[in-house]
Amino acid sequence: MKVMVVGGGGREHAIIKSVKKNPTVEKIYALPGNGGIASDAECVNIGAKEIDKIVEFAKNEKIDFAIVAPDDPLVMGAVDELNSVGIPCFGPTKVAAQIEGSKVFAKDLMKKYGIPTADYEVFSDAQQALSYIEKNEKYPTVIKADGLALGKGVIIAKDKEEAVSAVKSIMEDGMFGASGNSIVIEEFLEGPEVSVLSFTDGNTVVPMLSSMDHKRALDGDKGLNTGGMGTIAPNPYYTDEVAKECMEKIFLPTIEAMNKEGRRFKGCLYFGLMLTKKGPVVIEYNCRFGDPETQVVLPMLKTDLLDIMMAVNEERLADMNIEFEDGSCCCVIIASGGYPESYKKGCKIRFEDGICAEVYHAGTKKEGDTLVTSGGRVLGVCVKAESLEQAIKGAYDEVKKISFDGAFSRSDIGAKALEAKRS
Ligand code: AMP
Ligand code: GLY
Repeated sequence: MKVMVVGGGGREHAIIKSVKKNPTVEKIYALPGNGGIASDAECVNIGAKEIDKIVEFAKNEKIDFAIVAPDDPLVMGAVDELNSVGIPCFGPTKVAAQIEGSKVFAKDLMKKYGIPTADYEVFSDAQQALSYIEKNEKYPTVIKADGLALGKGVIIAKDKEEAVSAVKSIMEDGMFGASGNSIVIEEFLEGPEVSVLSFTDGNTVVPMLSSMDHKRALDGDKGLNTGGMGTIAPNPYYTDEVAKECMEKIFLPTIEAMNKEGRRFKGCLYFGLMLTKKGPVVIEYNCRFGDPETQVVLPMLKTDLLDIMMAVNEERLADMNIEFEDGSCCCVIIASGGYPESYKKGCKIRFEDGICAEVYHAGTKKEGDTLVTSGGRVLGVCVKAESLEQAIKGAYDEVKKISFDGAFSRSDIGAKALEAKRS
């Protein structure tokens, strides 16, 4: 089989490494891929948002199966376009991808179908939003741009002044472009967060191993929000009891709601959950695999990933028996100094001999034979072990063997999870 993977980050590297294990796979193309992915797939210089070129390439190369991984092309309708020229895909159609593409759509869906989420109001007029804030006395409050914003569209305002400035930046100054034409203002909730990626074909939903992301740039959840500085799986807060409750109150109702709205979701549906005192609530949906959640979940998958993806596309997921390994996995991201703000690119990456971690490349590029940095998040260093403690220690031991100018990592990935396990 010839497989095409759209995207070029750590998540795509993890997907490609998994797909490569399927014995029927002869060739994998990555569009655009990156310097590290080039060791596992043929990288093609087509960007993930260049839908026409992606479709043209897939047709010319007679691709047997396409995997569209990032949010942008999914929300832009890449799967619809590929399907229209007869290419089977893993990923939701444009109307289904709106579950991530529009926070207003997602919130209204949850309200209509009684799926637990934070209370909210929607505004498409800045003045109305500002007068709402004027009357609101509950802080912190959460302000979200409606559309995609590179994972940065959520502002937690600790007082009225910050809320006013957030609304002005999003709605008047166009901080997130058209993604901020509408906003959601919602109730601030508290509790541990859990990421649950799931496979679904619109009939059946199979949650994968749970995980925990670390979104802030610095130790102790300080600093700016990032795409994710590290992950662990499974998430100790996500007990069997919580899982059962989520299945009944969130996962199945979401799949049914999407069907009722004529937006059957096929692909990976990501549930970003918060376990509050009143029970689990949905903080966000993503229409795709999470990054860097994928880097700790897929290494633990025992069942063949491509077989599952094809079953999802053909709506026979119910026939699959999907299994994960016991034990834990930890991924520590090595980022460029300054990320998530401005940072240097083109720094030479040095690897010591004897690295035994799985290293997924997020922002790397080949310059001749030299591997250099090309993004904010550069590498994801992942280690599996029998216990969470060993996985964390293993990942940090391996991080020490990799260096480049300005490299930094959080030093507390998994610390909160370990604490939860012990208490
Ligand atoms: P999102 O991009 O929607 O995942 O939001 C980014 C992060 O903001 C989440 O992972 C939470 O930590 C935080 N967040 C979002 N919504 C809320 C909320 N209603 N209450 C508290 N924290 C929130
Ligand atoms: N790690 C969070 C996300 O992929 O959106």
